Amino acid sequence: MLYGADYNPDQWPEDVWDDDVRLMQEAGVNIVSLGIFAWSRIQPTEDAWDFAWLDAVIDKLHAGGIAVNLATATASPPPWVSKTYPETLPANESGASYWPGSRQHFAPSSPIYRRLAGELVRRLAERYVHHPAVVMWHVGNEFGCHLWMDFSDAARDAYRGWLENRYATVEALNQAWGTSFWSQRYGSFDEIFPPRLAPYSHNPSSMLDWRRFTSDMLLECYLMEREILLEAGATQPITTNFMGPFKPADYRKWAPFMDVIADDCYPDPANPNRVRDAAFQRDLARSLKPGAPWLLWEQATDAVNWRPANPGKRPGALVAETAQSIARGADGIMFFQWRQSRAGSEKFHSAMLPHAGTETRTWDAVTELGARLAALPELPTPGRDAQVALVFDWENWWAVEERDHPTEVDYLALVLEWYGAFHARGIQVDIVGPEEVDHAYDLVVAPALYLLRDEGASALARFVDDGGTLLTGPFTDIVDAHDQFRAGGFLTQLGPLLGLRFEDFGVLAGLSSGGSGVGALSADAVQAARDAASRGTVTFELDGVEQSGRLVAETVHAAGATVVAAFSSGPQAGAPALTRHRFGSGEAWYTATQPVSNGASAGGPSADALDAVVAAVVAASGVRPVVADLPAGVEAARRGDLVTLINHGDARVEIALDGTDAETGVAVERVVLDPQGVAFVSAPAATSDPATPRARATASATHS
Ligand code: GLA
Repeated sequence: MLYGADYNPDQWPEDVWDDDVRLMQEAGVNIVSLGIFAWSRIQPTEDAWDFAWLDAVIDKLHAGGIAVNLATATASPPPWVSKTYPETLPANESGASYWPGSRQHFAPSSPIYRRLAGELVRRLAERYVHHPAVVMWHVGNEFGCHLWMDFSDAARDAYRGWLENRYATVEALNQAWGTSFWSQRYGSFDEIFPPRLAPYSHNPSSMLDWRRFTSDMLLECYLMEREILLEAGATQPITTNFMGPFKPADYRKWAPFMDVIADDCYPDPANPNRVRDAAFQRDLARSLKPGAPWLLWEQATDAVNWRPANPGKRPGALVAETAQSIARGADGIMFFQWRQSRAGSEKFHSAMLPHAGTETRTWDAVTELGARLAALPELPTPGRDAQVALVFDWENWWAVEERDHPTEVDYLALVLEWYGAFHARGIQVDIVGPEEVDHAYDLVVAPALYLLRDEGASALARFVDDGGTLLTGPFTDIVDAHDQFRAGGFLTQLGPLLGLRFEDFGVLAGLSSGGSGVGALSADAVQAARDAASRGTVTFELDGVEQSGRLVAETVHAAGATVVAAFSSGPQAGAPALTRHRFGSGEAWYTATQPVSNGASAGGPSADALDAVVAAVVAASGVRPVVADLPAGVEAARRGDLVTLINHGDARVEIALDGTDAETGVAVERVVLDPQGVAFVSAPAATSDPATPRARATASATHS
């Protein structure tokens, strides 16, 4: 288990470096990410290079038994770069420059930035690639974190090349973007601009490509550096730090080029859903590269500095949050940062070694955590072990949240709601792309899969045909990979599976207090419309209980499907609200509204509509929780034989579980947890076949 932090010794006088190594040893640190923002120190002018200090630090760490994840230091170009090469600066959508003075002030597509960054990486690689302390390479840092999109001239030129590469002919692009609309037909690629500030909505198909391009430019920067490291003979794992579900970068496309997935996660202590949201992020990190380890690359020991208010963690929360990562597959626990900064924007950010020193609650927590991690047994690298997969797709995210739709959809919020219902029930979930859905799973949930690629549609159909259970719902299967309607209406791909014919979206909204109009809606009118949409609800009756839906009450017609629940109010009263349909050996379910969730947190189902729907599909698919009957607030996850139980609630709880305490080796029959308490229990999974419909279908296919 790796344990450590970002280490920025260049921010400190040399006389603390020995102390740093000594205290790292005391805390159980075995690795640091070194020099992430050290470019200006390594290359103070274009022609001057200073590696002496870095040599000294690496040697000290090595002598102290601390491994180095060496940064390529390219995330913050030195002042001389911006002065000499202003064309490396990125621009906003009005074309105004982002200026230096912070960090990440580079245009990812700038050939000059890439040349300068590449030279830095080459020099670092040549010098340190064979140093025994260097066990990993950290490329850039949180690509795109602050700069979500760059509209500079460098981006314009690269975008034109990227489009030409994608479409070959401008006519193919015209088709893909539907440019006959609003006189947008292009005569050549050099007529195309980034979607800079325009009077009204940009072409949505072009926006989708723009987002693909943006993600690809960041990825190209990573790949350029990776290539240089490999050419220099790097044999260590190469990675960069992800930021969980980060909209600008399609991490599923990046994952094949990461030797390990590294993820940064900063749960907001003030967010009531922080446990759920962090669990999702960790499951995503694991699912991006099954069979490869993932590392929690940055978290905070206590408060951060970058939210409007920055409360500290509750006592015990550091261990509880860390345990959640280990439970969900992490092989390393790292922090931003080792020693708290004395100057700069992040001087109030917590660190492993606080400004107040070692006689602090933080230092106690850090050393306790180091000791507990060291005591853990070797843990297996998880593969695709969950019974349930939740589909989460970046291209769909970009497309479904484009403007000018029947209603606004917050895709991530919706996905998290569905995830939350499983999390609350202690059911383990993988987070996958539609094309990754296969018979490894018993149940697949695919919310709001507005953009459905042909390959994704085929994978879902195959999955159901093979005996799987699929649940999907509103705003699914509307457009193709170019954000265009397919011929023949909606649900063109999944309709046969679902046994449904789709007629209308039935957007729900309460009365609006704001004005209306065409063209530029005032900010007040936009807000009023959003408020009205949030008040729109519908009811449906499931198992004799009246439940609520929101967002839409779609008109769908059963074409073979069985109606499980019907709307009990509104214009669609009597029409299908929840349906199921046998298809091949499996079954496909559909909700025609978004069931309202009360936002259940870990530890037992809540009495909400979303949970009621989840309960129905869980029962139908034979999916089982990691541990049954969890008390409220308790989270459970399985990793091989290791069951981790975490009490996020405020009361002491007791859970029946046969196994061995993985830290002490003592046999247990029940686990008692104080608030924020964590237990790691070795408890092999029951071997009895759960006899899910999918397992039965597979068995009968094998026998026949
Ligand atoms: C990110 C960055 C770090 C630091 C932290 C602060 O994770 O990678 O450099 O800014 O945020 O929380």
